[in-house]
Amino acid sequence: MVAKGDVFGPNQPLILHLLDIPPMMGVLEGVVMELADCALPLLHGVVPTDDPAVAFKDVSAAFLVGAMPRKQGMERKDLLSANVKIFKVQGEALDKHAKKDVKQVLVVGNPANTNALVCSKYAPSIPKENFTAMTRLDQNRAQAQIAQKVGVPVGNVTNVIIWGNHSSTQFPDASHALVNISGKEVKATEAVKDDNWMRSVFVDTVQKRGAAVIAARKMSSAMSAAKAACDHMRDWFLGTVPDKFVSMGVISDGSYGAPKDVVFSFPVATKAGKWQIVQGLPVDDFAKKMLAATGKELEEEKSEAMSVIEA
Ligand code: LMR
Repeated sequence: MVAKGDVFGPNQPLILHLLDIPPMMGVLEGVVMELADCALPLLHGVVPTDDPAVAFKDVSAAFLVGAMPRKQGMERKDLLSANVKIFKVQGEALDKHAKKDVKQVLVVGNPANTNALVCSKYAPSIPKENFTAMTRLDQNRAQAQIAQKVGVPVGNVTNVIIWGNHSSTQFPDASHALVNISGKEVKATEAVKDDNWMRSVFVDTVQKRGAAVIAARKMSSAMSAAKAACDHMRDWFLGTVPDKFVSMGVISDGSYGAPKDVVFSFPVATKAGKWQIVQGLPVDDFAKKMLAATGKELEEEKSEAMSVIEA
């Protein structure tokens, strides 16, 4: 998708730097062969490597998709401790080797929000605004649920918000969403006509969708996660359309009562590689409660990650 022009546009040639761990170098060679065989006109080079210094050398954008997944019996602290090490190495490598104006670093590997915070901490010469975490998969899932409920194509649903953490405490919020029905845009609440569903089944389904995919596939989401990463980077790079917003995990300034200095998912509008939190949306008591719960989890994750760093 990246090499085909779906992210940086159909006129932007690119070189892909592909980083993996040493035991995967043979498999990566196969990926390189397949990329050649795709005959992609925009792909002007491929650099496969197991060395972060080579991988991050002069990159303009980075998709950080590799992380230690949670295994059975693992505590969140164990997961954080493994990931702090990975994202420390990648943050340091970005700081040292990436272009100084590297604008877009997207963290996909879980726990994505806190991994993004750790990565940014170890790349002090790169502005914090240039690190984001992916909640676009949750946004896409939420749009799909609303579209199915109303019976419209998914592209007709916009402005669904994911607040907070990419975890089961996230708050998928369709109270500001719009649905295009036969050319007329109406509020999702009017199209769905079931407030109870919007606050229970809808929220629950989106919060637990990642786990449901793992239970069905015996593996974590792959195709939908890759598509969401491309959607996230494309909108960040090319900009959102007026009056529409998307959700991204970004460094929090305390907007909407969220804790400051954690990577929190907000509705954002983007232009020329910069995001801005959309301000002034009404937040009711139910939403405030949901935002507080996911904010609390992010603060706990942050303090656990910091205790690993300081240990
Ligand atoms: C997803 O939302 O599909 C993944 O983040 C789930 C996971 O834990 O890998």
